[in-house]
Amino acid sequence: MHVIFIAAEMAPVAKVGGLGDVITGLGKALQKRGHLVEIILPKYDCMQYGRIQELRALDVVVESYFDGRLFKTKVWVGTVEGLPVYFIEPHHPDKFFWREQFYGEHDDFKRFSFFSRAALELLLQAGKKPDIIHCHDWQTAFVAPLYWDLYAPKGLNSARICFTCHNFEYQGTAQASELASCGLDVQQLNRPDRMQDNSAHDRINPVKGAIVFSNIVTTVSPSYAQEVRTAEGGKGLHSTLNFHSKKFVGILNGIDTDIWNPAIDTFLKVQYNANDLKGKAENKVALRRHLALSFADSKQPLVGCITRLVPQKGVHLIRHAIYRTLELGGQFVLLGSSPVPHIQREFEGIANHFENHDHIRLILKYDESLSHSIYAASDMFIIPSIFEPCGLTQMIAMRYGSIPIARRTGGLNDSVFDFDDDTIPLQFRNGYTFLNPDEQGLNGALDRAFNHYKNNPESWNQLVQKDMSMDWSWDSSALQYEELYAKSVARARAATS
Ligand code: ADP
Ligand code: GLC
Repeated sequence: MHVIFIAAEMAPVAKVGGLGDVITGLGKALQKRGHLVEIILPKYDCMQYGRIQELRALDVVVESYFDGRLFKTKVWVGTVEGLPVYFIEPHHPDKFFWREQFYGEHDDFKRFSFFSRAALELLLQAGKKPDIIHCHDWQTAFVAPLYWDLYAPKGLNSARICFTCHNFEYQGTAQASELASCGLDVQQLNRPDRMQDNSAHDRINPVKGAIVFSNIVTTVSPSYAQEVRTAEGGKGLHSTLNFHSKKFVGILNGIDTDIWNPAIDTFLKVQYNANDLKGKAENKVALRRHLALSFADSKQPLVGCITRLVPQKGVHLIRHAIYRTLELGGQFVLLGSSPVPHIQREFEGIANHFENHDHIRLILKYDESLSHSIYAASDMFIIPSIFEPCGLTQMIAMRYGSIPIARRTGGLNDSVFDFDDDTIPLQFRNGYTFLNPDEQGLNGALDRAFNHYKNNPESWNQLVQKDMSMDWSWDSSALQYEELYAKSVARARAATS
């Protein structure tokens, strides 16, 4: 099959969080299964250009409609992690992707509705006939209504549209009139059964539009797919998802096991595998030295946490975990940054407070290389999310032998199983979990992990080896996507024959 991904992120060139990892990981896994996968991204100024191979401008200049006129759009092509990628560079006076950041601009709605339309225009003008156009999150949700309203009639009609929502918290709603910029018919679409937001009738909701207009709708874990179909978890979209439930499914993400592989990871001081935990211990020594953490009690565990600091991630519980780890005698390393100014300031305050403490380090920035070192050095990894569509850090942590301590929600519920829960077969038990999103809940899991680590090191090491051997690759999930794509294509062919 010919599959086009249209997305706002791709690791490692344009990554903010897990979306970037998924585009690359799922793309590579589908490519490995023999499909032609091509990706369309914005050409941001802040991308890691050094990691794009053979970047060159295409001869064709795509003309894309916006705000009532046509804009010339230069298209670049290059290779990222072995995948062909097209980069859209609009010649628009607002310089949509020259903002030194990926998101968080006042005109994100415009930027990404422009991008969605330009991506379809590229497919049309380059004569591509994909079987599947797979868009991701609200930034590319416009693709679904644009496709059926404007591009299928123009001849780009071979494709089925798949939409994956990685996080229903972000729906990209805006005043209904804003939709007109990209050429969509506001009156036709601002209706309860189309794009009208379920709670504000003068606003339109791109994610709702993608649910309504796509052939396949997925989210990133089975548990989260259930949660978002309830009034408590659906962020206002549960009724829409229930209405369209036949085409909606949750598929657990995987991780790219080439990028996340401690046996070949060049970011690490020492490479290691499940049969050689000495290497892991050397990474712990190296990180302690690098961050000037104490060696006085080298038998104490190191707790890691790598995250965007947003309410979803349970920031109050992360803060609590720092203090609880200290009480238990462990060390804590947090790598994270926040787009929310008051949260960033709060953690800067904690970082300053512990500046001269030799058990705690808070590094408040995005740092790919350091993230690899922390996964490798830590013994435990904390993920106390309030909700979590999938979560990749628990899988990466396990691959590096760091035992996850996670709240039972969304994808964490589908991937972390409590070591002490004897209703779960022993071979699946890989971490410590808690349900109540409060300090007692977290203490319950963290304290049990510390006890295990300190009182039964042999059993702990066996747990580490088991976690490192678990299969978190994309293989089985990519197969599920392939089956969904194939069924949808077959259904469309049957309908037209
Ligand atoms: P989300 O997408 O909600 O942020 P995920 O768990 O799906 O959460 O993915 C997070 C990804 O971003 C992981 O690859 C993680 O290692 C990475 N990450 C998060 N924060 C940082 C940071 N400060 N520096 C480097 N990598 C980070
Ligand atoms: C979102 C979710 C996260 C998920 C990631 C990739 O950012 O918050 O849980 O793992 O997307 O699908």
